[in-house]
Amino acid sequence: MKLITLSIIPMFLLVLSILIFSLVGCSPPDPSGTPKSFTPKKLLHEVYSDHFIIGAAVASSEYGSMDYFDKKYPNLLPHYNSLTAENAMKPEVIQPLKGSFNFAPADRIVKYAAANDQKIRGHALVWHNQTSSWMTEGTKEDVRENMKNHIETVMNRYKDSIYSWDVVNEAVSDQGSYRADSPWYVAYGGPEYIIDAFKFAKEVDPECKLVYNDYSVVRPSKRYDIMTMIKKLELQKHGLSGIGIQAHWNLYYPELEELQRTIDLFHQMGLEVHITELDIDCFDGIGNTENRKFDNDLAKRLADRYEEIFELFRKNSDKISSVTFWGIADDHTWLDYFYNSTWNAGKKLKNYPFVFDEDHRAKEAYKRITEF
Ligand code: XIL
Repeated sequence: MKLITLSIIPMFLLVLSILIFSLVGCSPPDPSGTPKSFTPKKLLHEVYSDHFIIGAAVASSEYGSMDYFDKKYPNLLPHYNSLTAENAMKPEVIQPLKGSFNFAPADRIVKYAAANDQKIRGHALVWHNQTSSWMTEGTKEDVRENMKNHIETVMNRYKDSIYSWDVVNEAVSDQGSYRADSPWYVAYGGPEYIIDAFKFAKEVDPECKLVYNDYSVVRPSKRYDIMTMIKKLELQKHGLSGIGIQAHWNLYYPELEELQRTIDLFHQMGLEVHITELDIDCFDGIGNTENRKFDNDLAKRLADRYEEIFELFRKNSDKISSVTFWGIADDHTWLDYFYNSTWNAGKKLKNYPFVFDEDHRAKEAYKRITEF
């Protein structure tokens, strides 16, 4: 008798829950099931019009394929009131050979943005990566001249369109102090190239918001090194007006408290904060070799994370001028190939870092950052 009662109760509960779920017209939640997606109802930048600019990085041609961003994301591009070239304005793309400029991919983005009333954040003028070697070869004077010509030519071309430039990218080392193996640092024999970059940029366009951009800015030791560099080199005197926090983050890093402290510290220095390359790695980044599907559980964790991050951003609207995602939808993210080639050679590790999914539909994360 006891046995029968025991087996009847769970059976009864199961039938009851199936009945309830079928009455309300949905199936029981399954943490490993496929997450729901939505047709977005509001434009991101309209939701944030009282807070900050909302941008996205776009790839005008993805390494050889003519897969243009405007053909690919016609419905999602209107969500952003700022665009950034994911690669098209980097030195190796825009001036691959000395004096020979390849403006077509960047022009395409600028033209699209102008036609659609979008601003542009330029990325990036001086960097140790994606820069042809000729630029940093020769005497210090040669290299200085190369930098000056590059900055003048590129900035002048887009002077009317670009409201903010990442003038120097990633000049601080993860190990502390300057990135001494940057070819710019080597050619100059020190960090003065950073001062020159801001000086040249300021001469071309004193109205433009000139930014120092880096990753791991929220990490206390690197943040300290960046702040020290800015003070020591007196970069604000030479035109620096903002800090670019790249924001290649994940479900755990950074802690909100540390993020808040970072925003406050740079704000206290008189700098505008730009969130320049936001994506949320759904895995724990380095070292994770496990491939996971984007299931209900992950969708919820990503949504929770986006919700708390944007809540903090909104609270700091007076300090933050722009928030740019490093891509648009999950079908194109540098995380897929960067991690695969760098840390997970040979392994396919698909990531899902955005608020729009691979089919360009809105994810739960989109809801959480638009309904508050
Ligand atoms: C990445 C692009 O997304 C990739 O397409 C490219 O192959 C490598 O660079 N920090 C930066 C960005 O400042 O320029 C990088 O973009 C990502 C890290």
